[in-house]
Amino acid sequence: MMKSERAKFGSKLGIILATAGSAVGLGNIWRFPYMTGENGGAAFILIYIICVLFLGMPCMISEFIIGRNAAANTARSYRKLSGGTPWMVVGYLGVLTGFLITGYYLVVSGWCLEYMYASIVGHLHGDPGFFKTYFETFETDPLKPVLWALAFVAVTHFVVARGVRGGIEKASKMLMPALFILLLVIVVSSCLLPGASAGISFLFNPDFSRVDGDVFLGALGQSFYSLSIGMGCICTYASYFGRDTDMPKSAVQIGVIDSIVAVLAGLMIFPAAFSVGVNPDSGPSLLFITLPNVFQQAFGGIPAVGYVVSLAFYALLSLAALTSLISLHEVSTAFLEEELKTTRRRAAIIVTVACGIMATFCSLSLGKYDCLQLFGTPLFSIFDFFTGQILLPVGGFLTCLFVGWYLPRKLVYDEFTNRGTLHSAVFGFYMFSVRYVCPVCIILIFLHQFGII
Ligand code: PFF
Repeated sequence: MMKSERAKFGSKLGIILATAGSAVGLGNIWRFPYMTGENGGAAFILIYIICVLFLGMPCMISEFIIGRNAAANTARSYRKLSGGTPWMVVGYLGVLTGFLITGYYLVVSGWCLEYMYASIVGHLHGDPGFFKTYFETFETDPLKPVLWALAFVAVTHFVVARGVRGGIEKASKMLMPALFILLLVIVVSSCLLPGASAGISFLFNPDFSRVDGDVFLGALGQSFYSLSIGMGCICTYASYFGRDTDMPKSAVQIGVIDSIVAVLAGLMIFPAAFSVGVNPDSGPSLLFITLPNVFQQAFGGIPAVGYVVSLAFYALLSLAALTSLISLHEVSTAFLEEELKTTRRRAAIIVTVACGIMATFCSLSLGKYDCLQLFGTPLFSIFDFFTGQILLPVGGFLTCLFVGWYLPRKLVYDEFTNRGTLHSAVFGFYMFSVRYVCPVCIILIFLHQFGII
């Protein structure tokens, strides 16, 4: 029997939109704007872009090289290229990280759906205290957030089960433009508000006096999370690239799209918040407590406009979360499909059920279920911490060492340059980055976040 050919993305645009879809997610919207405002505005943006270009790009290209060369799921890719040495553990670690992130990411994505619904039915209005109570009551409810998370995983399943071209690529080609349109509409509405210029200058005013080591390390950590590096997603998607895909160029395009979305998110949030005199924070409280209040006040002169902007905002968040979740789901689906030698549909069902169970536990851990807490910390926060602060840097670090020091230089060169036809002039620079600069910087972030340096 002939071996069936491995799935591939159908076009360059599909590759860019799907991979950028993985990168553009909740991370761009709930953390980047806040970090920018707090850490020197344009000065932070500049540092962030340097981190993306000089550290994020080499790491992303390294994952591209592994995935495309091995043309297999992340675990098998590392196994193939490591020749059975302990390096293969890095691949399994990637699959595990991708899987665990899905647990808590689904919960927050489900919240976005609830807020979309609440915007439609007009529940999101009241005084500032109302929004806090609304969120806290909802978040700790034993049923509602679980149902929304399950609805989200069902939608993700629907896309992933249809395969690489008919599901992931097709969905990305529809969802990413929709996301951009929503983003632009909200940015324009926000920047036209009276007093919006204070928010714009808070975001862009370069204040180099705020820049110190902490800011550099913060920018670096954010760039890795935002680019979905170190979690198997990029490697899995690269296994569907064609031999002629220009990987360094694609990485730069994806990095540019991701950074533009992050900056636009700042232009969506700060002008509106400043126009009503609210200081935005980060994380879930920004998205689900501060912003509904800001939208209501800022656009509240005509309530219908407030509702529409709020609906557009939560639709945007849901789209951003969906494209990231598709890539996370795909890591495990591709793994099971190939390792259990089963059909994509069956593999996707197993992943969906497992993710649904994990999300249910994560969500319940925020309520009154003490048994779902460790050391008084809810499972939700443990998953977040363990994946973002430990597995991500470890995965990124080991990937750099694997490509920089273990893989044959010729293999890396052939993949980077498409067999000597592209970008050979910058190959030396890339190798220097993955061998020395990236590993050292990742170790620094790692030690810094534990207060060791
Ligand atoms: N990059 C996504 C964000 O910024 O929200 C999060 C993410 C998606 C991280 C996929 C890791 C991943 F594999």
